[in-house]
Amino acid sequence: MKEEKLRELLDSLSMTEKIGQLIQVPGNMLNADGQELGVRDELGIGDELLRNVGSTLNVVGADQVRRVQEEYLRRSSAKIPLLFMADIIYGFRTVWPIPLALGCSFEPSLLRRLCAATAQESTAGGVHVTFSPMGDLVRDARWGRCLESTGEDPNRNAAYVKACVEGFQEGLAEEGAGKGIASCVKHFAAYGAPEGGRDYNTVDMSERRLRQDYLPAYRAGVEAGCEMVMTSFNTVDGVPATGNRWLMQDVLRKEWGFTGVLITDYAAIAELVTHGVAKDQKEAARLAMEAGVDIDMCTGCYANHLEALIREGALTQEQLDAAVWRVLSLKNRLGLFEDPFRGADAAAENRLYQNESFLALAREAAAKCSVLLENKGELLPLREAGEAEGTQAKGERIALIGPFADRKEALGMWAIHGDRKGVVTIREAFAETPGLDFCWTEGCETLLPEDYTDLPVLAERGERVCWSEEKRKEEWARALEIAENADVAVVALGEDEIQGGEGGSRTKLTLPGDQLRLLREVRKRVSRLIVVLFAGRPLELREVKELADALLLVWYPGTEGGRAIRDMLFGKSEPEGRLSMSLPESVGQLPLYYNAFSTGRPYDGKTANRFFSRYTDCPNAPLYPFGYGLSYHSAAYGPTHLDGRILKRGGTVTVWAEVTNTGSRDGVETVQLYLRDVTGSVVRPVKELADVRKVFLKAGETRRVEFAVTEEMLRFYGRDLQYRSEPGLFRAAIGADSSVVPDAEFELED
Ligand code: NOJ
Repeated sequence: MKEEKLRELLDSLSMTEKIGQLIQVPGNMLNADGQELGVRDELGIGDELLRNVGSTLNVVGADQVRRVQEEYLRRSSAKIPLLFMADIIYGFRTVWPIPLALGCSFEPSLLRRLCAATAQESTAGGVHVTFSPMGDLVRDARWGRCLESTGEDPNRNAAYVKACVEGFQEGLAEEGAGKGIASCVKHFAAYGAPEGGRDYNTVDMSERRLRQDYLPAYRAGVEAGCEMVMTSFNTVDGVPATGNRWLMQDVLRKEWGFTGVLITDYAAIAELVTHGVAKDQKEAARLAMEAGVDIDMCTGCYANHLEALIREGALTQEQLDAAVWRVLSLKNRLGLFEDPFRGADAAAENRLYQNESFLALAREAAAKCSVLLENKGELLPLREAGEAEGTQAKGERIALIGPFADRKEALGMWAIHGDRKGVVTIREAFAETPGLDFCWTEGCETLLPEDYTDLPVLAERGERVCWSEEKRKEEWARALEIAENADVAVVALGEDEIQGGEGGSRTKLTLPGDQLRLLREVRKRVSRLIVVLFAGRPLELREVKELADALLLVWYPGTEGGRAIRDMLFGKSEPEGRLSMSLPESVGQLPLYYNAFSTGRPYDGKTANRFFSRYTDCPNAPLYPFGYGLSYHSAAYGPTHLDGRILKRGGTVTVWAEVTNTGSRDGVETVQLYLRDVTGSVVRPVKELADVRKVFLKAGETRRVEFAVTEEMLRFYGRDLQYRSEPGLFRAAIGADSSVVPDAEFELED
């Protein structure tokens, strides 16, 4: 529709119809098969308004979307098509590895390809907007939503968010193409830093830290052209984001120039009352509107109070019109006025689902995201039965043990539209492999009541099945028996899916249930032991590290997880991932991140003197650092060189090192450049990842790997909160992970 026509449409709307555009209701209120009055009554939205709401969430599937849209258009007076939004976080029907795993790929272009594929599936499924990507930086593994973040590094997160927005929105700008879906960057801002790692808890930090570490990823999404931004639940400097004018108006809209739609997180306007910054929902509606929030997700605040606020003069008609205009413009860019059923096509949905290219992409992603933490004696890769030399000669028997050996739910909490039936487990992948001799059993459950406070209630409600004592004993005995008779054990352990995701905060990060005990027993019975670890966050792995010969962290690897794991175990592909979050030695170290400030008393890790910044019962260092991961090749790094000592503004300094594949297999090495700003007007981190290069090296090959350092890469928020570099001494290091110490010196000159 031409802009002029759209203006005419806006002008023709009644107040109720306008306000309707700013309201999002859950799908069950719009169900074409009958409305669920319960939810509707709770929100208190009147009939006329309900017939004209602007959007809904998590109604997906071509047939369903068509039915709801048809019914909606029949009943609505304004006849403006409904916008369908959904949480399509890491894949729609085809599920990819979780974002924390995707962060381990160190390959933004992979995320772009995955999101473009997701957009194709989602478009066919009738979805217009996805609530993804999440740009929240994470440093505290107790927070369950670490699984939805790409990790602890601001620069990497920014690159990933940009890639996701570009992937989702590919083709969106082409008029009439009906391609791509609108991307909503969330949760603005700093939702990933709740105190104590407890979800929805207070976030409080300096503006410097906010700008330096937490905002860059959201900003990258805005600069990549995301159509939507979601406010977060938390406070930012004492004011909940949803009512935070400074954040939404001054930073997001004015400083960054965001012109798209701003939506709240679920019920966040009403929570302004619970937070205690609004006395009632009316005041909450006013605060949110003043902050520039366009869409109220699932409360009655806008529905029930905007009209009165405008009539009383507390808000203006212009404010209302501006918000409605942004929503209408999005609908227009999506082409909904021409085709309200945009792309919803059941046949295409079926065709795309489980198509070979998506499945291949899912396997590729799982291998690129899996992190090989240990490989003692080069146990992996196993050789397939029948191969001449190798660890699994013909007739060797594998014991596949553990609650994740055959677990279709191993997708993580936010794969809410993913097809669980289509997930290939390790057991299934083994079973379809000719000549693979294995037996399997679970051995134990993932969880016991002491690991999850609500477990007994869930069991009582029939939402969880807990094993009987008899089944426990049987499984345990069988696991030990098959371990006893095996040549090699593959033990698939992990964190239960319900322990992570939204509301999934934990204070203990050890393996839940009887899993560690099971591992100890299996260890006593086999000579070679591989642990395949499923998790949605960093776990405490000290004992697992010691017990396992090989330790492969696959996170929640997605639809093709089982096949990808089999391929990695047998060397058909290699685990390429490098940690996107530090793995702690102990939960007591949290928050833990590699790019911490230098303290006045840095500890060398050795000296017996307590008056340093250290723990007296635990090292400062993580068990495995950010950026770490092994592969089936090995690599040696030469010293870091610089081609000059002086960097001038506008110029570059080349930093390089020779990297050799010292192994007997070809492989991809993730070469990392870390920089340190030695003295600044404010304290600078001990190192920062400045750039990454994934380099393919043939066995025995040496390559000179170069990075160009520019002045822009050295900028930060100085004492006056201005973003710029400061002349002086810098140090660089090229290495395989964040444990390298920058020592090659150069100077930035004015
Ligand atoms: C709450 C979550 O915080 C957010 O990430 C999600 O997109 C919304 N609910 C909608 O489901």
